[in-house]
Amino acid sequence: MSFDRLKISKKRVFSGIQPSGNLHIGNFVGVLKQWVASQEEKDNIFCIVDLHAITVPQDPKELKGKIRELAGLYVAAGIDFQKSIIFVQSHIPAHTELAWILNCYTPIGWMLKMTQFKEKSENKESVSTGLLDYPALMAADILLYDTDEVPVGEDQKQHVELARNIAQRFNNIYGPTFKLPEAVVPKVGARIMGLDDPTVKMSKSNFKLGHAVHLLDSPEQIRAAFARATTDSLTEIRFDQSRPGLYNLLEIYEIFSGLTRPEIESKFADKNYSQLKEELAEVVIAGLKPLQDKYHQLMGDPGTLEKILAEGAEKARQIAEPKLREVKNKIGLG
Ligand code: AMP
Ligand code: TRP
Repeated sequence: MSFDRLKISKKRVFSGIQPSGNLHIGNFVGVLKQWVASQEEKDNIFCIVDLHAITVPQDPKELKGKIRELAGLYVAAGIDFQKSIIFVQSHIPAHTELAWILNCYTPIGWMLKMTQFKEKSENKESVSTGLLDYPALMAADILLYDTDEVPVGEDQKQHVELARNIAQRFNNIYGPTFKLPEAVVPKVGARIMGLDDPTVKMSKSNFKLGHAVHLLDSPEQIRAAFARATTDSLTEIRFDQSRPGLYNLLEIYEIFSGLTRPEIESKFADKNYSQLKEELAEVVIAGLKPLQDKYHQLMGDPGTLEKILAEGAEKARQIAEPKLREVKNKIGLG
C-alpha cells in the first residue's frame, strides 16, 4: 500500500521554507513548532523550496550549503522523517511542470496584486519574471499533494488564497481536480518583529546586527541581540500593543517560557527592561539548545541527511506524479 493511502483519513499538511538567509526564532515559532506539534494527527509534507529561492540572485555554492542546513534544521527542530515527508522541491520535476500549467490559468492581474511581489520589486531596477510568477510555483507545491492545510506566517496567507483561487478556476473548467487548501496562521507568534526595529517583521534576509535571533546563534550572540533590543522610555512591563518593542519581547518570552500573560506580568512587575532582556535570553538559549545539539550531531554524521532527503523525495514523487498525470490528461496533454 502506498504511503498516501495508509494515511488517507488524516488531514494533509504542506509547507515550505526557502533555503536562503538564516532561519530565526520567527520561523521557528511561526512554522516549525506548529509543524512538529501536528505530526501525530496530521499527514505532513515539509519542503525545502529551493526553486523559490532562485527568484532572487543566489550564490551557487552558498545555496547548496543552505539547502543542507535547512534540511538539517527541519530534522533538528523535531520533524520526524518517518512520520512526515521532508524533501527538496527541485528533486521533484512535477513542481515546475505543474507550475507552468497553472501559469496558463492564472491572470497576470492576480500576480501583480500580490503584496510580496510589490514589496520585493519596489525600487528595483530589474526583477526576474520568476519573482512575479512565484505564487504559481507555490500553488503547484500545494495543489500537487491534495493539501488541506498550509501552516504559514501571516505574510504568506495571500499566496495560499491565490493557490485556492487557481485551484477553483481549474476545477470550474475541468471538474473536481484540486483540493482547496486553507492557510493556517498561528495566533501567538504569527509575526515576530525585528529586535532592532519592532515595526518590521523579523526577516531571514536582514543581516543587520541585533535584528534577529537565529536558530544556530551561540548563547553570547543571543544575549547580545536581546540586550540591544529596542524598547521605549517607559518602565512598566506589561503586554501593551502600543509599545511594540516591549510587546514583541514579551510575546517571545510567552512562547519560549510557556507561561501565561498574567504570570509573566506578575513575574516582571518589579523588574526593569534589562532584567527582562536577560531572562528572555536565557529562556531562548535553553529553548534552542536541544535543536542545536541535534543539528550538530546530524551534520557530523555524513550520509544521514542525504538518505533522509532521498527517501523523502521518493515518497513525495509517489503522490505528485499521479496528480500531475491527472492534470495533463484533463487538459489534453501527453
Ligand atoms: P521566510 O523567512 O520569509 O522565508 O518565511 C518562512 C516562513 O516563516 C513563512 O511561512 C513565514 O510566514 C514565516 N515567518 C517568516 N518570518 C516570520 C516572523 N517574523 N514571524 C513569524 N513567522 C515568520
Ligand atoms: N513562499 C513561502 C515563503 O516564502 C515558501 C513556500 C513555497 C511555501 N512553497 C510553499 C509555503 C508551499 C507553504 C506552502 O515563506
